[in-house]
Amino acid sequence: MKSPVSIPGVAVFMAVSIAAMPEAFAQSEGVASRGAAFAEQNCARCHGVGPGDKSSPVPGLAPFRVIANSPGMTGLAIAVWLRTPHNDMPNLVIAAEDRSDLIAYIVSLRDAGNAK
Ligand code: HEC
Repeated sequence: MKSPVSIPGVAVFMAVSIAAMPEAFAQSEGVASRGAAFAEQNCARCHGVGPGDKSSPVPGLAPFRVIANSPGMTGLAIAVWLRTPHNDMPNLVIAAEDRSDLIAYIVSLRDAGNAK
C-alpha cells in the first residue's frame, strides 16, 4: 500500500513544527541545574554529562560538553535533535519541562568547556 503522506508533506510539517518551537520554549524557561540532575539520571550511562567530561562511558560517543560546543548546536538544534529518535536510544521520551531543563544545561556547558 502506498503511504498517504508524501515526502514534501512531511518536510512542510517539520518546517512548521520547527518554526513553532521558539514560542513553545518561551513559555517554560529551562533550569540548568535541574537539567544537570536529569542528565545524570538519564543520560550519564552512555554520555559524559559533566562540565569536565572529555569522553563518554560508551567509547566514541560525544560527551555533552563536546555536543554543546559543536558548531550550530544551538538550543533550538538540541531541541530538534531530542525529538528525533536515533540508534541505541529507543523510547527516549522526555517530558517538555525536562527537555527545557536539559537544553538549558547543555547550552550552559558551552563556554565553560571552551574556557578550559
Ligand atoms: C543507551 C545509550 C544512550 C543514552 C542513555 C543516551 N544516549 Fe544520546 N546518544 C547515544 C548514541 C549511541 C548516540 C550517537 C548517535 C546515533 O547513534 O544515532 C547519541 C547521540 C546523542 C546526541 C547527538 C550528538 C551529536 O553529536 O550529534 C545527543 C544530543 C544526545 N545523544 C543526547 C542525549 C540525551 C540528552 C540523553 C539523556 C536524556 C541521552 N542522549 C541518552 C546513546 C545514548
